[in-house]
Amino acid sequence: MPTRRRLAALVGAAALSLTLAAPATAAPIVIKFSHVVAPDTPKGKGAVKFKELAETYTNGAVTVEVYPNSQLYKDKEELEALQLGAVQMLAPSLAKFGPLGVQAFEVFDLPYIFPDYEALHKVTEGEVGKMLFAKLADKGIAGLAYWDNGFKVMSANSPVRTPDDFLGLKMRIQSSKVLAAQMNALGAVPQVMAFSEVYQALQTGVVDGTENPPSNMFTQKMHEVQKHATVSNHGYLGYAVIVNKQFWEGLPADVRTALEKAMAEATTYANGIAKDENDAALAAMKAAGTTTFHDLTDKERAAWIKALAPVHQQMAGRIGADTIAAVKAATGK
Ligand code: LMR
Repeated sequence: MPTRRRLAALVGAAALSLTLAAPATAAPIVIKFSHVVAPDTPKGKGAVKFKELAETYTNGAVTVEVYPNSQLYKDKEELEALQLGAVQMLAPSLAKFGPLGVQAFEVFDLPYIFPDYEALHKVTEGEVGKMLFAKLADKGIAGLAYWDNGFKVMSANSPVRTPDDFLGLKMRIQSSKVLAAQMNALGAVPQVMAFSEVYQALQTGVVDGTENPPSNMFTQKMHEVQKHATVSNHGYLGYAVIVNKQFWEGLPADVRTALEKAMAEATTYANGIAKDENDAALAAMKAAGTTTFHDLTDKERAAWIKALAPVHQQMAGRIGADTIAAVKAATGK
């Protein structure tokens, strides 16, 4: 784990590279883009697309270095590194903003709040999305875009078809109190853990199960260590692409404009491939045959919805009843 002193040294280096970058002939401005998933995922591919477009549109004035798979930092550390300026860009899952003190983002974790991508986009592409980004400013962070991943599958080594099946299971979650409440509502025992540690924890039985969209489950090979999975689509997992605000606002205006264009196009690309990537990952896991996948019947889905509905009320104080209402108004649900 990087020490604060090491991070401070990196901050100095980042500031220096920015100063030197101003003249046309100077060394490029370096954007370190750190993330925790595999390159072959919607986020991994989106990051590479942004790199290509950013370097093209700035005529090489900017170099984007993409670090996938928690190579530089794990979940919690990467947010600290961004605030300190040791990296300039991240795309954490929306379920990881609570520890920063912006709990309203956990609205995205509420069970069954988004029936599909269309409803989700009414939030991420509308006023609620902007309102949430505004909450990041006093944390030294600027939000640039929302990137899709997908709807989650529940997995374990025993069948997880009905809420009763979760009783006593240790389930890995991201650092979201809403996800903890969701697992508690199912009678499971939630355990917060960094993404990079999940495979091993499943393999060794430190936890019994987890939840993730198929693209993450497949690219982390979780299907090799989970015998059962239910395609429950009970919750959504997506990202906010965020930057260190001081770094972003300190960029020459023309460079920032070019980067905004690159981000807009990378966002269209990433959000355009997310569903297909998840469908393909699910098909690949089914073909691998190591996990038995179950689709919920209507009756089973109704039981899940009933078991998880109280979480909305329980978490209203934490997320903000106004934020939940704004999301529901935007989606029309
Ligand atoms: C997780 O920790 O399960 C996800 O947030 C990983 C990711 O970034 O998709």
